[in-house]
Formats: sequence, C-alpha cells, structure tokens
Amino acid sequence: MTNPDIKKGLAGVVVDYTAVSKVNAETNSLLYRGYPVQELAAKCSFEEVAYLLWNGELPTQDQLAGLTARERAGRALDPALKAIIDALPTDAHPMDVCRTAASVLGARHPLAENASPEANMSKAIDLWAAMPAVVAYDQRRRHGQELVEPRDDLGYSANFLWMTFGEDPVDEVIEAFNVSMILYAEHSFNASTFTARVVTSTLSDLHSAVTAAIGALKGPLHGGANEAVMHTFDEIGIRPEESLEQAATRAKAWMEDALAQKKKIMGFGHRVYKNGDSRVPTMKAALDKMIAHYGRPELLGLYNGLEQAMEEAKAIKPNLDYPAGPTYHLMGFDTPTFTPIFVASRITGWTAHIMEQAAANSLIRPLSEYNGPDQRSL
Ligand code: COA
Repeated sequence: MTNPDIKKGLAGVVVDYTAVSKVNAETNSLLYRGYPVQELAAKCSFEEVAYLLWNGELPTQDQLAGLTARERAGRALDPALKAIIDALPTDAHPMDVCRTAASVLGARHPLAENASPEANMSKAIDLWAAMPAVVAYDQRRRHGQELVEPRDDLGYSANFLWMTFGEDPVDEVIEAFNVSMILYAEHSFNASTFTARVVTSTLSDLHSAVTAAIGALKGPLHGGANEAVMHTFDEIGIRPEESLEQAATRAKAWMEDALAQKKKIMGFGHRVYKNGDSRVPTMKAALDKMIAHYGRPELLGLYNGLEQAMEEAKAIKPNLDYPAGPTYHLMGFDTPTFTPIFVASRITGWTAHIMEQAAANSLIRPLSEYNGPDQRSL
C-alpha cells in the first residue's frame, strides 16, 4: 500500500476561497465580510447582519426596510407545512422537524428548480423568514399548545420569542437573543457549511443544500453541542436554591470525575480555535445579563465550576455553545429546541456560502486511498 498524506477530517486543509467570513485562530477573531462579529453583535439587528452576509455590505435604510418587509411577509407558518409537522411524532427530535421543514419548503417553493442568483437570494430570504415559525410551533405543540401567529410590529428576534412563548418579550431578552443569532450566523467552512457547499457543487438546489446542512449540524460534535451542554448541567443537577459557590463546587467535582473517565465534555474545544472561541466573551456577557435578569446565580456557579476545572485539568476553552445553552434555557426554550434556533440563525451563513459556491463552482469530489482486500474472484 502506498502511503499518501491523508488529512483525516480535512484538518488543516484549505479547500477554497471565501469572502463571507474570516476566522483567525491566532488573534481569536471572527469577521463577517470584514466586520468584527463583536461589533456587529453590539450595534446591529440580526436582519442587518443577514443582509450583510448575503450582499457583502450593510444595508442602507431603504435596503433594510425592503428586507424587513419581505421577512415579515414570510413569517406565517404555511398550513401545508403545519399539517406535515403535526403528522410527525412529538418525540421526534426537533432537528428532524427542522430538516423536514426545509425539505418541504423547497418542494413547495415556486422557484424550486430555478438556481439563478436571483432565485437563490429569494429562496434564502424565504427560508430564513419561515424557519422561526417552524421552531416556535414545534416547541409549542410538544406542550399541547396552539400555534401563535406572527406579529409584524416586531423585529425578527422579538417575533421569534413571541411565536414561541405567546407573550410580549422584554427588551433585555430580545437583545440577548439577537446577540446569539448574530454570533451563530456564520463561521466559514465548518462541517454543516461545507456540507451545504458540497451539495451545491453538484448543481443541486438551495433547499437540498440547507436540508443536508441541518443534518450535519444536528451532531453533538457540531451544533448539537448547545443541547448537550444543557444535558451536562442537568446531569450535575440544577438547584435554583443553591448559592453560586455551592453549585461551582459540585460542577468542579463532576468535571474532575468526567475527565478522569476520559469523557468528552460538550461545549469545550474547537477544531480551529485552540486558545478560546472568539464568540464566547460576547455570548457570556449576554448569559450574565440573563442570569441577572432571571435571578439565577447558581447557573453561573455551574458554568464557572466546569470552566475552571477544565482549564486546570486540560486548558481546553469553552466554545460558543457553552454560554448559548444556558442562555436559551433561561429564556424558556426546551433543551432540544436549542440546535433548531442555531439552524434559524445559520441559514443566513449557509445560504451566503451556497450562493458563493454557485457563483464559482467546482464539483467537490476528493479522493480516497483504498485499504480493503486485494482484488479477488468469486
Ligand atoms: N472534552 C474533553 N477533551 C477534549 C475536548 C472536550 N470537549 N475537546 C478536545 N479534547 C481533547 C481530546 O480528547 C484530545 O485529547 P488527547 O490528545 O489526549 O486525545 C485533544 O483534546 C484534541 O481533541 P480532538 O477531538 O482531536 O480535536 P478536534 O480538533 O478533532 O476536535 C471538537 C474539535 C470540537 C470536535 C472537540 O473539541 C469536541 O469534541 N468538543 C466537544 C463538542 C463540541 O463542543 N462541539 C462544538 C464545537 S463549536
């Protein structure tokens, strides 16, 4: 057998150019179309960031008004899609519901087989506008609750919360949710984005690429980690009556034990960032605000205890999913809904990459080195 230079997991392999975002592990920075994500999270709405990812520039007021009007007009849950969601078991994973929804929306789209740049932009906006209703309704139906109709007097994030909980969201919560949507929107050639680009490279359609990307995002080594973080918190035990210090002590002990058993702890580590995830400080600040808002210091104790014990034992830093998980928990989202929220956000990044791939396409088809049995006869 020859000895080719195999790059397991494509680690360290640069496969193409992208102008959508730049991840710089050395400087712990992440730029969307040149803008630091922290600045975007502090100053922009998710709608503005979506426009930026798709078009390369932040919108003028008129352009933002145009996008906002389209998004608001596309928020209602299509009754045909609702009927399909209703036919899915309530114990199906919400990511399976999201994946099914993306596929159904593709099959029902009037431009389904049109892959022109204009059609792709239209489909991207439609899918982005439609997904919050899917995620929100899916959480509600699991509790036996009715669909909440969208409100066009609310921005994207506020309406998402409204459709999930059926209550007027408060400003602090809207702001933290908006920050999370911006931070989750884009991250260069991660596994799900690469999946979307692979599908696009065969000249398949945008909804097929997004449907495949949702499948890739579901795994706990990728997007599913935000859900897995909450399972860790649950396993340690969430005790609202506990002090921050008590919770931290229990969390540290849990982590030491888990690491002694060589467990992989979800929400820590990253393929690209080895000295910390650029998005964590901004998301942690949003989590801190939610902990103060809901008066739940013991959750900060769990957070700190795990982080400190991991730092002392292996110096592995948290990734974005670590602060995002407890933030969504505090807001009232069910744990299995966390990764679908990530989907709703990442649709923007995926579709920006799909359009970029389509504009300068080359079929993605790597080689493999055969290591099965030598040729033989029947
Ligand atoms: N918990 C415990 N140990 C971890 C770890 C974690 N979360 N992440 C990495 N490590 C350890 C590995 O065990 C390995 O140690 P070893 O060399 O002693 O075997 C070393 O760090 C390198 O890890 P590896 O898994 O090979 O790195 P990778 O670049 O392939 O993995 C991830 C990156 C993200 C897949 C990995 O860190 C992980 O599984 N994290 C948990 C899942 C998660 O949070 N994913 C969301 C990413 S945004």
